[in-house]
Amino acid sequence: MNNRPLLVTCGLPYTNGPCHLGHLRTYVPADFFVRFMRRKGEEVVFICGSDNHGTPIVVSAEKEGTTPRLLSERYHNHFAETFKKMHVEFDHFGMTDDPTTHNRAKHLVSRLIERGYVYPKIINQAYCTKCEKFLPDRYLEGICPHCKKPARGDECDQGCGKHLEPGEILEPTCKICGNRAEYREQEHFFFRLSGFKNWLKDYLGDLKGTDNAINYALGWVNEDLHDWCITRTLEWGVKFPGHEDLVVYVWVDAPIGYIAFTEEWAALNGKDWKRYWCGENTRVSHFIGQDITYHHCIFWPAMLHGAGYGIPHAVIASGMLKIDDHKFSKSRGYVVWTNEDYLDLGLSADYLRYYMLTYTSHTKEMNFSWQLFQERVNNEIVNNLGNFIYRTLHLSQKQFGGVPDGEVEDEIVERISETLGMVTNLMENYDFKGAVDCILSLSAWGNTYIQNKEPWKLAKTDPSAMAQVMCNCLHLAKALTLLIEPVMPEKASQIWSQFGQKDNICKISFEQGLTKLPPGSLPEPSIVFTKIDDKMTTEFDGRLRERIDALDAQKKPVTPQISIEEFAKVEIKTGKILSVEVVPKSSKLLKLQVSIGDENRQIVSGIAQFYTPQDLVGKDVVVCTNLKPAKIFGIESNGMILAAGDEASLLVPATPVSPGTKIR
Ligand code: 2FM
Ligand code: ZN
Repeated sequence: MNNRPLLVTCGLPYTNGPCHLGHLRTYVPADFFVRFMRRKGEEVVFICGSDNHGTPIVVSAEKEGTTPRLLSERYHNHFAETFKKMHVEFDHFGMTDDPTTHNRAKHLVSRLIERGYVYPKIINQAYCTKCEKFLPDRYLEGICPHCKKPARGDECDQGCGKHLEPGEILEPTCKICGNRAEYREQEHFFFRLSGFKNWLKDYLGDLKGTDNAINYALGWVNEDLHDWCITRTLEWGVKFPGHEDLVVYVWVDAPIGYIAFTEEWAALNGKDWKRYWCGENTRVSHFIGQDITYHHCIFWPAMLHGAGYGIPHAVIASGMLKIDDHKFSKSRGYVVWTNEDYLDLGLSADYLRYYMLTYTSHTKEMNFSWQLFQERVNNEIVNNLGNFIYRTLHLSQKQFGGVPDGEVEDEIVERISETLGMVTNLMENYDFKGAVDCILSLSAWGNTYIQNKEPWKLAKTDPSAMAQVMCNCLHLAKALTLLIEPVMPEKASQIWSQFGQKDNICKISFEQGLTKLPPGSLPEPSIVFTKIDDKMTTEFDGRLRERIDALDAQKKPVTPQISIEEFAKVEIKTGKILSVEVVPKSSKLLKLQVSIGDENRQIVSGIAQFYTPQDLVGKDVVVCTNLKPAKIFGIESNGMILAAGDEASLLVPATPVSPGTKIR
């Protein structure tokens, strides 16, 4: 146990869209970690909140005809409720637009200014002459200067993923009106990040957490560290000290929210927030999505250090999420909304928690599919864990009315303690899958044990031997319930009462809970883990597919329909290729002489990559004959040979017809 208090935070969700599985990939493991560490006896505070500032929220509010504050409150409440339903239980869930974050951010930024870490600089800012405003971040789209893919103002989201500083994006376009933006000079303020290079190298060397975060960050520090423009021309946000026309960049005040929310929690609970954020003894652990590593491992510790606060102890970054083996994408329908697609269908939050923790290692890419979900729930939770616990409770109740008299054998106690040791080690190394798998192995061992001992056969032949087996199994089942509670709190709490326990399982430490059950009656057990049937999986999968198809259909360009009269205007005839010449200096074009019955036509066709002249001479083809003549490469072309697809497969009549036959 550690006497430094542990403060665990989760990346703050933006308040402009509902909760989806991508969010949960960070929150569920963090909650698992917190519950487990508390059970071990650690003092843990679990803090989160919503991220309310930044341009995407202003843009979404404008679209909805509401204010950014009202939009934020709506989604803030949505997230707070959804997390509760998922049994992700924060000690406090704040809002970055509340006064505490505004004040803390002003204080921290003022400190950075006083200490010389912030300087003004005139830069080019995109400006839309039509909307008459400067276009920060998401108000702007364009082309990434690094990889040339379409990008957002502050981030190359469809290409290389690099952060883009104001003035960097190519072909800047206003997102509101679509107008080409121009660059205008404006004074902004920069954080001297480059000055922290050596300090960051040392810091990252000591930082705890997952390798994906630390190694990425070390790579970036070893490259060039650019100073950060930390102001934006925007109304919505935390005002930059001394400049009412500027707000700080959202990535400045968002992490400061972690401190502010701790202050709010401390004020409500009679604690001192400084214990968690100031001095050498802090132990802040940030759970984040891998995509925001730069902000948490580089920018944020430098800001904290510059302003004289304590620095984060660990950064734990989760890998990304795929849906049905496709890149997670809201616009393409590859998304599972936590409420609409899961909780509202009556599915257990605990099953989803289990899946998210065990699909793969925390740092790897996780895939969600309904079929895999069903397989894991049925085979692992129900057939393994559920089976052992229910069988144990059922047999004990049936034969002894509850817990029989007797001792628990050493082998069982040792197995439990060995598992707890392994699980603790895995948890301390943020190997959440490893930890849950280890718990499930203990339960699989229990199943083998009960199967080998066949206590149901002993009922008549040797009741005291049966009592011994059941004592062992009950002790093991109770330990498993305590171990699995951080993963599946709701189910574990239901089972806990089946052991006749009255106290809230959340409050029970391993020390208190790993004790032998006293002999005596137990309530009638009931089945807590039930299977997901095929019908359900098919239905949920069908819903996902329908959405993907509907969005796909919306994206396909709709070809306008034409009347038969309009079609009749196109004259199409069969033809026979008489001769072919290559067009000098062109790799694509061939010059063909084609008979269309009563006349010969010269046609230039872009098929040289696919056919040699020898392939073509004598071939029957299909020709559009009333296309207006055109000059291609300076050569007159009078008609068009019809071909299919990118490789120009020529259309040919299925049976011989004479040249000039009309196609109808
Ligand atoms: O990327 C995001 O969703 C941000 N809203 C996370 C902010 S975390 C923090 F630093 F506050
Ligand atoms: Zn790019």
